[in-house]
Amino acid sequence: MLVDRFNRRINYLRISITDRCNLRCMYCVPPFGERKLRHKDILRYEELLRIARIAIKLGITKIRLTGGEPLIRRGVQEFIPVLAALEGLEDVSITTNGVFLKENLEMLKAAGIKRLNISIDSLDKEKFKRITRFDYFDQVWEGIETARDMGFYPIKLNVVLMKGVNDNEVFDFGRLALEQPYHLRFIECMPVGLAENSLAFIPNAEIEKTLIDTFGPLIPISPGLHDGPATRFRFEKGKGEIGFISAISHSFCQECNRLRLTANGMLLPCLLSNTEVDIKDPLRRGCLDGALIEVFQEAVSLKPECHPLGLENNQKVHRKMCSIGG
Ligand code: 5AD
Ligand code: SF4
Repeated sequence: MLVDRFNRRINYLRISITDRCNLRCMYCVPPFGERKLRHKDILRYEELLRIARIAIKLGITKIRLTGGEPLIRRGVQEFIPVLAALEGLEDVSITTNGVFLKENLEMLKAAGIKRLNISIDSLDKEKFKRITRFDYFDQVWEGIETARDMGFYPIKLNVVLMKGVNDNEVFDFGRLALEQPYHLRFIECMPVGLAENSLAFIPNAEIEKTLIDTFGPLIPISPGLHDGPATRFRFEKGKGEIGFISAISHSFCQECNRLRLTANGMLLPCLLSNTEVDIKDPLRRGCLDGALIEVFQEAVSLKPECHPLGLENNQKVHRKMCSIGG
């Protein structure tokens, strides 16, 4: 079992399978793209599976695949079913930008994946293009609707609202949660990488107030097994739900249950700190499982009690979000 110094049980691993992305969201990737990892530095699928097996032995029961954009990595269609079938895993999910979602839904369904997270920061085609720098709104939306029709549940829609960019869409997102079974997740823009100067930051409390003023009371939903850090609500007659991930304004670190693995084989004890523990090197040196277990234990032992970022605190996270996977 993985238990950290603050008695938190770690049972959730987020694996970034590629640092590459086919979008360039303004808070994540610079306009002309990002320097890419070299192919040889990226963990191969066999290596990822070995790490996953060890993680499961240590009590990890939930894995999420992230990126960059996980669905653009070559061979992912063969990898996901194998990963999802590993014994001892209770939950496998994926975070995607949705551009290639539609053509992968059959594969995901056959692999037993039910839970999807899709990043969509605008419901307006033009604004979507401004934020992501590509004109893929229709494609993404088709993927989301097809997933809904195929019975994927829950479908979480991740939204990062930024002042002067998309903060005028609270109403449209709220209406979506009223009329459709989607689970909206408002994620406070974290000062990581390009979003570092937190100029875009909007506290979730502001969004909550706008939603209540417009649509009426938000009814709390009691936390579920796979909830993570979101506080969840629904509208009285709403088909979907609203969740707030308030990493900045309200720390939820005391419930943190996760580790992250980057595409180049670093275990990150915390999203918002610069500490990393190399697991690729011992793996490629041919270490036995016991040594890799120790790497996991070290990463867990380095989990901070709470991330050091607050609005008043100026510490910088050096890694770019696209190499962490959110
Ligand atoms: N702050 C908050 N969320 C971010 N994401 C990417 N960068 C940031 C940031 N600086 C989100 C993406 C995606 C999820 C994986 O992380 O929008 O939904
Ligand atoms: Fe790609 Fe996600 Fe970053 Fe957007 S936020 S550029 S979709 S990795």
